[in-house]
Amino acid sequence: MITESLKNPLSLFDVRGKSALITGASGAFGRATALTLGSLGVNLTLASGSKAELDAVADECKSVGAKVELVYLRPDKLEDAEAMLAAALKAYGRLDMLVVASGFNKAGFIHEMKYEDWQSVMDANVRGEWLMAKAVGTYWIKEKIRGKMLMMSSVRGRHGNISGYTAYCASKGATDSLTRVLATEWAKHGITVNSIAPTVFRSKLTAWMYGDDELGQATKARSLSRIPLGRLGEAEDLMGMALYLLSPASDFCTGQVMYVDGGFTAG
Ligand SMILES: NC(=O)c1ccc[n+]([C@@H]2O[C@H](COP(=O)([O-])OP(=O)(O)OC[C@H]3O[C@@H](n4cnc5c(N)ncnc54)[C@H](OP(=O)(O)O)[C@@H]3O)[C@@H](O)[C@H]2O)c1
Repeated sequence: MITESLKNPLSLFDVRGKSALITGASGAFGRATALTLGSLGVNLTLASGSKAELDAVADECKSVGAKVELVYLRPDKLEDAEAMLAAALKAYGRLDMLVVASGFNKAGFIHEMKYEDWQSVMDANVRGEWLMAKAVGTYWIKEKIRGKMLMMSSVRGRHGNISGYTAYCASKGATDSLTRVLATEWAKHGITVNSIAPTVFRSKLTAWMYGDDELGQATKARSLSRIPLGRLGEAEDLMGMALYLLSPASDFCTGQVMYVDGGFTAG
């Protein structure tokens, strides 16, 4: 028998009318994901701590026809995560997708860096993911919604780095672990949890590698030398995987860290 999805394979990627919450929506990955989903008819709730930047992303999303709700918060506390969820529910009555695109790095060699800097990276990356998972997962389980959660890992969750990445690498290793443990914990509720692990792509986070900073230039050159496809990434390069992981096409895929890295981890 030829099933419906084989007759119309693009229906696997049909996300029209769904509702998505994106943290760090002012950033490169968050913005690209908002535009991608918004263009496909997903109702958006966008969160970030930078009002002017978030307003600009919202205007872009509206220009492609998306409905947009804004929350000027980062996921610093459980109440922040709950306020984001509440905004989505008030606007659309439902939430189907959670994308944690907020994140941060502060490079520094361990013998020189302050403990507070290490903690700030762990808080931005791991605490933010955990708080968002707790707030939204509690809602999904209570309402029996087969939600989809997407987090941002990095090739740095798997590889070390000589440029002072004890905080960032450890935080992304934690993202990989959270991806797997949430996926297994929530599988019985039909909720999927996956991560995208890119290598360097252009964003505010990596701006220091595109300027004059000596360590930044060396870090960029070393990354580039390790990428078989011969270039660094752009946020657009990640959108095919993001859409897959947020659409019905990935209903049987959970707990995975998906490398979209130009071949970095292959060799
Ligand atoms: N770019 C890369 O090469 C790369 C590679 C691998 C993985 N990633 C991961 O991809 C995700 C998205 O990063 P991006 O490259 O799109 O960076 P980005 O353009 O800097 O966006 C990240 C967003 O996170 C928010 N943010 C910054 N500091 C924060 C903090 N201390 N606490 C909470 N939120 C904070 C910012 O929003 P507000 O200031 O408006 O709150 C910012 O717009 C991150 O998890 C990053 O680690 C990036």
